[in-house]
Amino acid sequence: MVLELLDPTKIPKHIAIIMDGNGRWAKKQGLMRVRGHEKGAKAIRQTVEVCGELGVENITLYAFSTENWNRPKLEVDTLMKLLVSSLKKELSTLQENNVSLKAIGRLDLLPEKAQKELSEVIELTKDNGKMNLTLALSYGSREELISVVKSVSSQVKEGTLDIDQIDTDVISKHLYTSYMPDVDLLIRTSGEQRISNFLLWQIAYAELYFTKVLWPDFRKEHLVEAIHNYQDRERRFGKTSEQL
Ligand code: FPP
Repeated sequence: MVLELLDPTKIPKHIAIIMDGNGRWAKKQGLMRVRGHEKGAKAIRQTVEVCGELGVENITLYAFSTENWNRPKLEVDTLMKLLVSSLKKELSTLQENNVSLKAIGRLDLLPEKAQKELSEVIELTKDNGKMNLTLALSYGSREELISVVKSVSSQVKEGTLDIDQIDTDVISKHLYTSYMPDVDLLIRTSGEQRISNFLLWQIAYAELYFTKVLWPDFRKEHLVEAIHNYQDRERRFGKTSEQL
């Protein structure tokens, strides 16, 4: 499958990816799990490049879930170090390609060094307009939804919002992802077919694509295949084919 075969009028505006299978990739090679994460971090670049070429405006990557804090300390520490080194390494590429880095999740729980590096890169790239590259870090969708309930109800309590005004737009505006449209295409690698507490509200009408490829092996051709598969589907948003 080559890029040129894709329909340029049906490019997803928002692709979200559950980058799964780093540990299994490492095990298969007889390596430590952390080597899989290093390789996984490298695989991100090709995906972002292809999305740039195609004009995908938003990519959201599940890099670290709230549940991932329960992994062995060595693995958590390595992932955090990898985050810092990747941010340092990729800043110039983000600038050259007009990509704005964003992050969603309980960022306050990240080590101070990671928080600092992250906010620096976010600030330096904030005016880049070609694409939002969002890292979900210390992220959990239920926690996000709880934060929405809290902020909406405090507005109701203060009297700045009437209960009857609460609709999907109000909820969307209170989500961590308020600056983006909902997800069009959700990809999960490694053969698992689960959502794992990722963007539960935002994937309401997303097309789901599962592939057996392990994340460190995910390349341009796999992404193009996923987008091709997405373009072949009929998105009805609850309507009939005839109504579209
Ligand atoms: C899932 O593989 C992957 C993760 C939990 C982390 C994803 C991280 C990267 C791709 C590296 C980049 C990281 C940052 C922080 C920018 P797994 O470990 O669950 O694999 P397994 O299911 O095969 O064990």
